[in-house]
Amino acid sequence: MNKKEGFFQKYWPYFVQGTVYTLGLAAVGVFFGAVFGTLLALMKLSSFWLFKVIANVYIEFVRGTPLLIQVFIVFFGTQVIGLNIAGFLAGAIAMSINSAAYVAEIIRSGINSVAAGQTEAARSLGLSKKQTMRFVILPQAIKNILPALGNEFVTVIKEGSVVSVIGVGELTFQTSLVQGTSFKPFVPLLIAALIYFILTFGLSRILGLFERRMAQSERQ
Ligand code: ARG
Repeated sequence: MNKKEGFFQKYWPYFVQGTVYTLGLAAVGVFFGAVFGTLLALMKLSSFWLFKVIANVYIEFVRGTPLLIQVFIVFFGTQVIGLNIAGFLAGAIAMSINSAAYVAEIIRSGINSVAAGQTEAARSLGLSKKQTMRFVILPQAIKNILPALGNEFVTVIKEGSVVSVIGVGELTFQTSLVQGTSFKPFVPLLIAALIYFILTFGLSRILGLFERRMAQSERQ
């Protein structure tokens, strides 16, 4: 057995676990990010000023502070108030909090991108505000929102590496474990980079496919 085979045989489970955790973290982050983000976007678009203020403050604050600090705040903050939650959960919460602010802007701009004439036309045909939103605005907005949400997923996969600072066994953390135990600082990083690239590139390809399909259905 040569030396290279020995390295991969010994350490591949680290990378597999890291990849699974990274994907899990991203999936949870984007899912809850999308749920809270939708809520925030609706609050921001509502005509009630208090909802608007809350959503604005949240979005600006989260987007104006580093994810790294948010991860630490959730991790140590929950400890301070006596909740001893696992690193993965803390990481997932921080990612969701962070992603929600970005998703809110994606949804808001998606809805705003539908021309005002569409609302006017629908309203003058006698549709109520709700009906206009549901049958005229949203079906058009979704075509802008979905691709951007896909990009958010790609971003969250990469940003998940930040969560390694609280000891969550995702890809970046596992890579540093391999660096430490194998005394090889460089090769594990290349492997990690390759895995991240395969994940993000693969995902953007799949998303591209969907986008083209949607564009086609638009033309028919
Ligand atoms: N790295 C940046 C930060 O620390 C960007 C985070 C982007 N997050 C997102 N969900 N799109 O704030």
